[in-house]
Amino acid sequence: MSRADIPTFTLNDGNHLPVIGFGTYQLNGREGIDSMMAAISRGYRLLDSAFNYENEGAVGQAVRQSEVPRDQLFVASKLPGRHHKYDQAVVTIEESLYRTGLDYLDLYLIHWPNPKQGLFVEAWQALIDAQKRGLVKSIGVSNFLPEHIDTLIKETGVAPAVNQVELSPYFAQDKQRAFDAKHNIVTEAWSPLGRASALLEDQHLQEIAARYDKSIVQIILRWHFQLGVLAIPKSSNPERQKQNLELFDFALSDDEMAAIKRLDRPDGRINDQDPAEYEEF
Ligand code: A2P
Repeated sequence: MSRADIPTFTLNDGNHLPVIGFGTYQLNGREGIDSMMAAISRGYRLLDSAFNYENEGAVGQAVRQSEVPRDQLFVASKLPGRHHKYDQAVVTIEESLYRTGLDYLDLYLIHWPNPKQGLFVEAWQALIDAQKRGLVKSIGVSNFLPEHIDTLIKETGVAPAVNQVELSPYFAQDKQRAFDAKHNIVTEAWSPLGRASALLEDQHLQEIAARYDKSIVQIILRWHFQLGVLAIPKSSNPERQKQNLELFDFALSDDEMAAIKRLDRPDGRINDQDPAEYEEF
């Protein structure tokens, strides 16, 4: 499969990202590299990592060992909450890059806003400067609420290119998606499959899946795509990795999109991690 098989989103900074990527949480060491290389050979072009996943080295190794040219691959990582202070953020971004052994990263996000700590504007300034220095091509945020993004724009004049949030049919994030769209920010979905919870046995999704001879997972990922959301499903299994990319040969109807929307629920988060309260370091 070539890059051309996966459509791309154009970001507000003019760069592009594939409409679906590969989550690498808990893929570490040699086994992690093997999973990521399998994913690349199945057609994935975007690898989503984080400083806190402790696998930036494995991600870099997979990219360097792959036969796919560097400029057709996209590597994302994230700044942890304990390094939001400007000077520490600058060093941490540099460290992320050195750990991958690559010349640049494609996307760098602030992992959590940690509003009680109140340093995310400093962190954002460090990302802006890292982008100017060419260490990272695009910059964005993760788990940011509208009020946090408003603050970034007001304080720095720079809007994120991407906001990566928890988003699945049980937690559809209508308001956040509308806010992101208004600011030309691509919404990215972490745990798009609800981390393989009850969602993957949902009866309504099963009915739709049967209609298309697809799996529930493919229905969920197609739903993300039709919403304009960049999902990053994780799978350590090459067969499931492949299956999770087979989304572009069918389309959900408006009625089916509406039926999936009705599954949305206020308590639909996996671990109740509300970014207004929850902090990660
Ligand atoms: P595995 O790695 O064994 O394939 P999320 O991306 O929402 O965090 O979910 C990741 C979980 O979903 C992992 O446990 C992964 O298991 C599982 N998963 C990924 N793809 C599929 C699939 N096509 N069918 C069933 N489970 C899947």
